[in-house]
Amino acid sequence: MVAKSLEVRPLTDTFGAEVLGVTLSGQMAPDVFHEIRALWLRYEVLLFREQDIEKEDLIEFSRLVGPLEIHLREEWLNKTHPELLQITNIREDGKPTGALADGEVGWHFDQIYLPKPAVGSLLFSIKIPPTGGSTHFADMTTAYARLPRHLKDVVDGRNAIQSYVAFNQMYSTTTNTKQTNITPDIAHPLVRTHPYSGRRALYVCPGMTIKISGLPDDESRSVLDELFAWTCRDEFVYRHDWNVSDALMWDNACTMHRRDDFDGEFERLMYRTTILPQPDRAVPF
Ligand code: OGA
Ligand code: MN
Repeated sequence: MVAKSLEVRPLTDTFGAEVLGVTLSGQMAPDVFHEIRALWLRYEVLLFREQDIEKEDLIEFSRLVGPLEIHLREEWLNKTHPELLQITNIREDGKPTGALADGEVGWHFDQIYLPKPAVGSLLFSIKIPPTGGSTHFADMTTAYARLPRHLKDVVDGRNAIQSYVAFNQMYSTTTNTKQTNITPDIAHPLVRTHPYSGRRALYVCPGMTIKISGLPDDESRSVLDELFAWTCRDEFVYRHDWNVSDALMWDNACTMHRRDDFDGEFERLMYRTTILPQPDRAVPF
């Protein structure tokens, strides 16, 4: 029997798709899951609307995609379900209960500062403000494919230095000693080969990339500025305006994302799972 294909609506000309008629759950039929996985690799960002699901569904579905990371920001994990990182401005007893609060968050790949970064993230919206707080994604596969020749010549075969400290100074809060010790600045390839699809994408982001290895500082700065301006062009970007119960799963090897700020008078709450690659392809290459 040939399985019925899922209905898909592309979100832009090059990447992103809404998948219709699916409820995320660890119990979904294997052929449905395999189709979703193939769509995720092809479209890089998948949107599932109106997900009437529990924390367990989110976790168990994510676990089908890959092993889950318990995020190093222990202070912001959901108390009963540590696989969920809370992204929120809600405070309890004066203390943040999650990451990223209400400010602007600059372009980044999740965990690009780690030796074995996440290959995917799934963000589920529980509470949203009436305006603001949109999340933008950039298609780094297309940005690389269309990269002007003079930049391609510089980036191919080179590494860049990624810094969680730089990101936290601009957009988050400092880490404690234990967290600092596991997140020193780190070099990764500037062009990353996707661990599953084999497609090549730029692996560089304004929020965390501080230097191109092997170039003098001023040259590194000017190439990075050109790369940042290039990758943020409208032609590579999808902006997601959230509704409650949207789930967005992105490919974290070949898209970067950023968030608009919003009025801190309103509460915003999201749960995120962090999906790891299979161990033999976990180090970016
Ligand atoms: C994240 C993230 C942005 C947002 O969860 O990794 O960057 O829109 N979130 O909350
Ligand atoms: Mn993020």
